[in-house]
Amino acid sequence: MNRTFASDVPQKKGMEVLVQGWVHDLRDFGGLKFIILKDRSGKIQITLHKEKTPKVVFDSFEGISKESVLYVVGKAQKSEKAQKGVEIIPSSIEIVSKAQAPVPLDTSGKIESDLSSRLDHRFLDLRNRKSFAIFKIRGKVFKFVSEYFDSQGFININTPKLTTIGVETGAELFEVKYFDKKAYLAQSPQVYKQMFVAAGLERVYEIAPVYRAEKSRTSQHLTEFTGIDFEQGFIKDEHDVMDTVEGLFRHIFKRLNEECSEELSLWNRKLVFPKKIPRLTMKEAKELLKEKGIILGEDEDLNLEAEKILAQIIKEKYKSEFVFVYRYPFAVRPFYHMKPANEPNISMSFDLMWNGIEIATGSQREHRYEVLKAQAKDAGINLDKDMAPYAEIFKYGCPPHGGTGLGLDRIVQSLLDIENIREVILLPRDPDRLSP
Ligand code: 4AD
Ligand code: MG
Repeated sequence: MNRTFASDVPQKKGMEVLVQGWVHDLRDFGGLKFIILKDRSGKIQITLHKEKTPKVVFDSFEGISKESVLYVVGKAQKSEKAQKGVEIIPSSIEIVSKAQAPVPLDTSGKIESDLSSRLDHRFLDLRNRKSFAIFKIRGKVFKFVSEYFDSQGFININTPKLTTIGVETGAELFEVKYFDKKAYLAQSPQVYKQMFVAAGLERVYEIAPVYRAEKSRTSQHLTEFTGIDFEQGFIKDEHDVMDTVEGLFRHIFKRLNEECSEELSLWNRKLVFPKKIPRLTMKEAKELLKEKGIILGEDEDLNLEAEKILAQIIKEKYKSEFVFVYRYPFAVRPFYHMKPANEPNISMSFDLMWNGIEIATGSQREHRYEVLKAQAKDAGINLDKDMAPYAEIFKYGCPPHGGTGLGLDRIVQSLLDIENIREVILLPRDPDRLSP
């Protein structure tokens, strides 16, 4: 007999079905017993009557524990009291894998468990519908990101995660023993994505792990996260890059509303995308912050507090959860960002913030070899010597280009308005967590 998913049982009233899943709950009223079985589609009630159910089946209830895997064959029938108006009257119950008791984590959502023990037993945590929903949404976001880039003519690439060079200031490298050499885990695909724009692919994107040896114990930082990176050639300026980012989010919102309405409502989330994401220069952002008593110097970055307050201002003023801040001080950006003509202290770069959390950083890149070499030198890097393979891509025809790095984990965190980033990644890595 073919398997029927729990969610399809209501359409099979009056028919014999086979359901397969985990025991969500057991209710024993003596002559009347219930098993609530869950599978990836939902839950279904199995009802055992002392008089009507075959004795071996009725008696097998005693040996069933929560979270055990059962195969149940029985008749689907209408029931006033059962969820979705349907129950199964079993003719056979097979205990395929018996769960030990007690289960180290409540999966019903009735008992609140702290995040740390949920992560310790993550595979059990996902048997809770709300946790499961996070990963359904995350998987869909992954798909919609690919869909969008594909529709815009971007080519998906995979670049090495074992590498010798890092370019992101502030982000520390994890050192790896590579036979008799020293290697590092990639802190971004920056060098490579620029390389393949110059190669002639023109538009590339990658969704892949990014490693950062940052000892930050915050609710937004991981040491291993999933980066969404893209790079595009023949741009006018950084606004073209922001347009791509904006289009990406518009697409993700539209498609999530189409395909994940059930999961979003489990998290009480309504996704409405603004008509246009406001774009403020850093100078304008700092002026708005000044009105709220936050004073930042010309060359200073926005700190976490400033980002939160700016988010409130933007929400009130523009009715948008998103904001692009652009023209960052060059002093707080990596050497490969381009400077506007005659403005040596500014970079043609931007951050996208969503409810006060930095979601993305992007820029137009410096593609003129001599200028880049000088900028690297100012940062203490000898481009030709320290980064020869990178230097090479600017020597043989490199178009003006720009791109962005986004964090998939932070996107899902913001989508669902979840406090801690660790909740949206299956098995988070941070300075204290390396297992399971
Ligand atoms: O801002 P970041 O460091 O920028 C880059 O890596 C550049 N290559 C981007 C570019 O193309 N110019 O990282 C990009 C994004 C951040 O905006 C954030 O969403 C995410 O990656 N991110 C992290 N997510 C989780 N944990 C961390 N430790 C993160 N660090 C960055
Ligand atoms: Mg950044």
